[in-house]
Amino acid sequence: MKGKKWLALACMALALVACGQKAQKKATENPEQQSVRKEQKANKLRYQGSYYSVQGADGQEIIIVNKKHPLAANYAPGEDPEAQSAFRQLVTAMQEEGFPISDHYSGYRSYENQSQLYQNYVAQDGQAEADRYSARPGYSEHQTGLAYDLIDTAGNLLTEAKASQWLREHAADYGFIVRYTEDKEEITGYTAESWHIRYIGSEAQKIAKSGLSLEEYFEVPGGDYED
Ligand code: DAL
Ligand code: ZN
Repeated sequence: MKGKKWLALACMALALVACGQKAQKKATENPEQQSVRKEQKANKLRYQGSYYSVQGADGQEIIIVNKKHPLAANYAPGEDPEAQSAFRQLVTAMQEEGFPISDHYSGYRSYENQSQLYQNYVAQDGQAEADRYSARPGYSEHQTGLAYDLIDTAGNLLTEAKASQWLREHAADYGFIVRYTEDKEEITGYTAESWHIRYIGSEAQKIAKSGLSLEEYFEVPGGDYED
């Protein structure tokens, strides 16, 4: 009887050691395993022929545009109807709150429009400076038809503090995120823009609550241009 008890205890001890080893193996991946895992994450991002996209939590397609992920020059979808309708509702809500928001806005821009705009900024400020706030042609979210710049009633891009705060807190109620924030300039690749919102749809709430940039949330590369 005594012998059996010892045997049972010894078996339990062995099982515990084996378990411990298994857990340790899982926790400490070698560099190769880590790189495979990174690749698997990166694989979520796919090139769809004229744009890059990831899959959202509900299986919906979310287009990614940044300095590492351009759009084809001939990608010209026009303004997205769902985004436009959501934008109108957001503007109406802000106007009803008493914020001085114009009905005018800057939405869809073709590759050619962006090219003209960017060239003007380069002529005005030089390329290095222009790259900090204006996308090169093919690199602007405005070319997707999903991005909007809010304009105030004086005709300027929206910068007023209270209105900007309202946007940060409520844009997601309408499916938008404030895309370029001060704390994320390194990863988004642009200086902060309180006026630029990007339509995401149902996942906007989760993204906004996470406090992460779009790049961080979907674990896709961002930052500066390759060249
Ligand atoms: N101002 C933003 C980054 C654009 O040009 O799309
Ligand atoms: Zn914009």
